[in-house]
Amino acid sequence: MKAKIVGTGSYLPEQILTNHDLEKMVETSDEWIVTRTGMKERRIAKTDEYTSNMGYEAALKAIQAAGISVDAIDMILFATITPDYIFPSTACLLQTMLKAPRAAAFDIQAACSGYLYGISVAKAYVESGIYGTILVVASEKLSSIINYKDRNTCVLFGDGAAACVVQGSGKGLEIKDVRLGADGEQAALLILPAGGSRCPPTQETVLCEQHYLKMEGKEVFKHAVRKMEMAARECLDRLGMQEQEISWLIPHQANMRIIEALAKRFQVEKEKVFLTIHKYGNTSASSLGIALDELLRGGKLVSGENLLLAAFGAGLTWGASILTYE
Ligand code: ACO
Repeated sequence: MKAKIVGTGSYLPEQILTNHDLEKMVETSDEWIVTRTGMKERRIAKTDEYTSNMGYEAALKAIQAAGISVDAIDMILFATITPDYIFPSTACLLQTMLKAPRAAAFDIQAACSGYLYGISVAKAYVESGIYGTILVVASEKLSSIINYKDRNTCVLFGDGAAACVVQGSGKGLEIKDVRLGADGEQAALLILPAGGSRCPPTQETVLCEQHYLKMEGKEVFKHAVRKMEMAARECLDRLGMQEQEISWLIPHQANMRIIEALAKRFQVEKEKVFLTIHKYGNTSASSLGIALDELLRGGKLVSGENLLLAAFGAGLTWGASILTYE
């Protein structure tokens, strides 16, 4: 049995934060942001939009696209680094919103690689026959952990959610292979220092702004292309495929320069690299899922085409996957 993505969905908050808005908040410019990242605007959730209810909206669309009933869901996997609470899991909150009492539910924490980690777990459960229908959700309210006085990070991130239904039968995108990687030695490069058990939240941690995301952007950049290329080549080798057989590249939407470098290494033409970075920025775990949903709904895919998905994020974590459109 081969696992397939049989339905996708996504959700973006309405509120838009443009580069020009950011120019009024920190010392930056539209020119700097566009040249260094490719981003023009990003979406920001309202106070009553959370990681859980944005995920819920995306999940409803994926369930509808898959044509399944909520009762059919055996498991909910929720990828996020901005959960509603440290515990209980956001997957459990979503389970009750969806009214899916049969479903087991747990969170996956792999930062920007979360969607790929999610579909790899779903694939393993489906292909082993342990569970039949898995809902994978990735949702992030990154605006809740961003310091809007820090120009190094506040221009990069946005909020949004994506979801997909993975099953062993039906029509959709076959998950041919997924390869994942991690390097905890580099954990400090991208981190939320306070709020966990090692550094519980105190007045001091808040005063020192340790409750915000910190990133050594330049260092993270150095690893990104190399690791995504490595995972993608592993997929191709295991499937006995050539890079010329890749029809579409759907990269994690973190930086246009990283995306262009990756596309060059696999000789994917510009028109076949699917981008949302200009309008949504980096939405971490949701980024790949939002792009995949928009590509599918755009009706551009042709039967038999192979999609290369690649992601990279905090941990460090990374991964790649080859999907084939039926
Ligand atoms: N506006 C204007 N100037 C800025 C801004 C800004 N918004 N941000 C930084 N600068 C300045 C810096 O202060 C620095 O100035 P200096 O030379 O006087 O010190 C200069 O611009 C260059 O800064 P760099 O950090 O060297 O810029 P770089 O070209 O590396 O771009 C960026 C920074 C965009 C963050 C890039 O390094 C990057 O995209 N890194 C990878 C991010 C990534 O992939 N993250 C993984 C996923 S995220 C997750 O998992 C949650």
